[in-house]
Amino acid sequence: MAEQIATNITWHEGAVTAAERHKSLGQTGATIWMTGLPASGKSTIAVALEQVLVQRSRCAYRLDGDNVRHGLNKNLGFSAEDRAENIRRIGEVAKLFADAGLITITSFISPYRADRDQVRKLHADADLPFLEVFVDCPLDVAEQRDPKGLYKKARAGEIKGFTGIDDPYEPPLHPELTLRTDQLSVAQSVQSVLDLLQQRGLLSAT
Ligand code: ADX
Repeated sequence: MAEQIATNITWHEGAVTAAERHKSLGQTGATIWMTGLPASGKSTIAVALEQVLVQRSRCAYRLDGDNVRHGLNKNLGFSAEDRAENIRRIGEVAKLFADAGLITITSFISPYRADRDQVRKLHADADLPFLEVFVDCPLDVAEQRDPKGLYKKARAGEIKGFTGIDDPYEPPLHPELTLRTDQLSVAQSVQSVLDLLQQRGLLSAT
């Protein structure tokens, strides 16, 4: 948990509630948090899901690990502390987006359970939907895919602390959804997330 450093700051309440904002947008904000090993399929599913949601006139936005590390989180590496800070910041951004009314799809390895649970709590405390999606794929399949050639580099010792090789990944214990991407097509995975959103009343107009 990040420490509160600033003092002499006061929360300034707005004149509209999140529910009023969501009503004006015609949708409820929510966070779809995808977690999994490198090359498990998180970004691919997120891209396809964002497209389907926008085609259905839902306001959706994707936050992708590699992309966010080019900007907001460019000063973070892959130590446990930096990964925790990466997830903390994105958790806060996703929460703000959900509060604003967006359906946010995040695709970060987010290897530590405690970090993901903090983000879940952040959303729960604000009464905003948080759906943890475990993008599950056996390591050997992810390693065979290796679209960026990073597993190969990690095995060769050219990358230290690579998730799945010499850095841990802690699978979710109670995810809202698990997608076995070695068994499902991208379209099937997207449909499963859509079904979940439908069940939770997050696809229909507010
Ligand atoms: S996280 O662990 O902090 O959640 P994040 O999802 O932002 O990671 O970034 C992961 C991406 O960074 C991977 O898809 C990969 O392209 C790249 N990467 C570079 N070094 C590493 C590493 N040591 N471990 C995992 N991913 C890495």
